[in-house]
Amino acid sequence: MAAEPVHKDPSKSGSASRSGSATKGGSASGIAAGSAAGTQIGRLAVDARLATPEEVQACIKKREALIKEGKRYDLGKIMVKAGVITASQLKRLLLPSGDDTMTPNIQQIPGFRIMQKVGAGAMASVYKAKQLSLDRIVAIKILPKRLSEDAEFVERFYKEGQAAARMNHNNIVQAIDVGEYGGYHYFVMEFVDGQTVYDHLVKAKQYKEDEALDVMIQIAKALEHAHDRGLIHRDVKPKNIMLTKDGTAKLADMGLARQADDVAAAEAEKGRAFGTPYYISPEQIRGVTDVDARADIYSLGATLYHMLAGKVPFEAATPTAIMQKHLKQGITPPDHINPNISTGIAEVVERMMAKNRNQRYQTCKDVVTDLQRVRDGKPPLEARSNLRDDVLQNLADGAHAEEEYYEPHPAQMRHHTGSTTPTTSTPGWLLAVAGVEFVAIVMLVLLLAFK
Ligand SMILES: Nc1ncnc2c1ncn2[C@@H]1O[C@H](COP(=O)(O)OP(=O)(O)OP(=O)(O)O)[C@@H](O)[C@H]1O
Ligand SMILES: [Mg+2]
Repeated sequence: MAAEPVHKDPSKSGSASRSGSATKGGSASGIAAGSAAGTQIGRLAVDARLATPEEVQACIKKREALIKEGKRYDLGKIMVKAGVITASQLKRLLLPSGDDTMTPNIQQIPGFRIMQKVGAGAMASVYKAKQLSLDRIVAIKILPKRLSEDAEFVERFYKEGQAAARMNHNNIVQAIDVGEYGGYHYFVMEFVDGQTVYDHLVKAKQYKEDEALDVMIQIAKALEHAHDRGLIHRDVKPKNIMLTKDGTAKLADMGLARQADDVAAAEAEKGRAFGTPYYISPEQIRGVTDVDARADIYSLGATLYHMLAGKVPFEAATPTAIMQKHLKQGITPPDHINPNISTGIAEVVERMMAKNRNQRYQTCKDVVTDLQRVRDGKPPLEARSNLRDDVLQNLADGAHAEEEYYEPHPAQMRHHTGSTTPTTSTPGWLLAVAGVEFVAIVMLVLLLAFK
């Protein structure tokens, strides 16, 4: 992992440099992007559970205040000074990760010249490289050797890689090639000069509603494109959404085969800050064999929840406990956590995150329609459609077989008035009058019967 640059003016960095990938205030969506590399060390510290996102955010603010005074310090030093991490922890974070030992091998991938490492996730490392034949910059994701030795995984990797290469959408990181060299399998893709939604969340905690809508509409359209072509992502999360300097959102890792079954992959996230278990759909946890587009809609909803509320939908000490909550516990409506967001967008999130997939939006096209309506100040359509339709649909689809009982949050039982104003419940006096009337009618019927 590259160490962050010190004393570097982001406004002066060239386009080829990832450290200058996001110029402050330069995004069309209005998102103050900041420098991805500038916050990299904060992200690493959060990933390693050495610091909380809040501690990192406080240090970033401190650094910004110092910059205003004309003093420039790198974030790592500020974190040490603030007692968030120790000097030796900083040193270890700046060391290249273990699998860098394979760098000499990948340097020789025919047709490419590796330039630098730009990131690493739980499964692989990502490098910036030049594709020599076309003289263009690309990103190469190299899988660790242990995965390359798993025949079933490799087969899926190639199959899905080919499917991903058939996608062509401005909001999907373009897949270019898959291959193998020296025992390592790799995935070549479009290089995105920007930062991930996760990076922004580590830095700024949450998004404003209009910014979140802008990103979500783009990614929902990307998923619609993929779903229409039979490809399910299965791992939609803030780390897999990248933002370019001009505010274009790009869905990454489309078609990258998951390492194992979904629960095993989620559990492998143990110890990471905002990992897969935070966004996984209930049916992936249950291990249903026919995971479909609606699983992506759930994960996209969980991602939107995090962007708006500034926290993940369910928190717990272990991945298993988090997944249990996805199965059993209703979400706290995001507008109860962040009162600055509209009721409309909160309803869209709730609909996307319905436990029973038959009660979710059925397609990303419908998600896009409602997100656009909320953006235009109109009430969402589908999110407010009559619950009885869902019940009928469930009965028709035999959905109860897969749906278990769960405890909804009281505020999730919204009573819709058809307006965009906050929701109200049926007044108590009206219920009392209705009750008295009911008793009177029953008594009248009894009187007539015994007459
Ligand atoms: N196409 C790309 N262009 C530029 N940078 C990229 C690209 N794809 C990934 N990256 C960078 O590499 C990092 C690692 O990506 P990777 O997909 O391996 O893991 P992740 O999605 O961050 O996390 P996880 O392994 O937990 O899913 C990303 O966070 C991002 O910063
Ligand atoms: Mg990724």
